[in-house]
Amino acid sequence: MGSAGCILKQLPHLTMMGNMKTIVRFMICLFLPIFVTVFSACFGSNRSSENEGNIETMTGGILSRIGESQVTYILPTPKTDGIVSVETALANRRSQRNFQNRAISAEQLSQILWAAYGITLPSAVPQLRGGLRTAPSAGALFPLEVFAIVGNVEGIAPGVYRYIPDGHKIVRVVDRDVRNELMEAALGQRMVGAAPASVFYSAVFGRATGRYGERGVRYVYIELGHSAQNVYLQAEALGLGTVAIGAFIDSRVSQILGLPANETPLYIMPIGYYYND
Ligand SMILES: Cc1cc2nc3c(=O)[nH]c(=O)nc-3n(C[C@H](O)[C@H](O)[C@H](O)COP(=O)(O)O)c2cc1C
Repeated sequence: MGSAGCILKQLPHLTMMGNMKTIVRFMICLFLPIFVTVFSACFGSNRSSENEGNIETMTGGILSRIGESQVTYILPTPKTDGIVSVETALANRRSQRNFQNRAISAEQLSQILWAAYGITLPSAVPQLRGGLRTAPSAGALFPLEVFAIVGNVEGIAPGVYRYIPDGHKIVRVVDRDVRNELMEAALGQRMVGAAPASVFYSAVFGRATGRYGERGVRYVYIELGHSAQNVYLQAEALGLGTVAIGAFIDSRVSQILGLPANETPLYIMPIGYYYND
């Protein structure tokens, strides 16, 4: 019975009989719908999410984690303006290797990944896998794959995540903190183990060589430079530091990250707050 109908039905009894039982029933009819409404407003989204099967946490609709078997985080929306000019970022950019033991935020990681390969002009053309990006790409083939190596990022569980530009999200591919293993694979370069997170690049060379032949190999390396410089500049603008690391044992890195056979590891870029030397 609807609350209005329920209340109306009770009113004549209330005035005519005025007994306690009727008053109590009247009060229940009046306040129960209000209680249910307030309760579902507070907890309703979580409950319906559980019913949908896979949304686990949601912090203010900003960073959301989906799924258990394939954990996915929808990242905070990146900003397209800031307080540091591109000239200042260029002037101050330096490779940083001495990282503080301090977390970075999900917003900072989101911004860095967006700078690396985020979508700036959405498109439904399948080849673009979401649209044109922050970095140029020969024939718009986008041969790079970008990962987040997460160790100490607020709100994101440690692990290795593949960045999916379409939808600006990360999908977990390894569910443990691999920073120390990766440091060893990078010939013991301490910053890989010390930084709270790293951006990692691999490339699917076939995407470029399929159209451009041998020249596609050249294009992949050029494109890595474009994207990695974006990471340097974005880190600088956020008050963070990074360093492009090319010295590592390819096979060991591929093994730690579980890379598919058609992906070649290219760069590790630790990200974090740093000490000025
Ligand atoms: C292709 C490439 C590979 C690099 N590999 C490493 C590396 O393995 N370890 C490292 O500490 N720095 C590495 N660097 C960073 C350079 O050492 C650094 O850019 C150089 O010393 C100039 O310093 P700056 O970046 O502060 O201007 C690499 C840079 C490039 C472009």
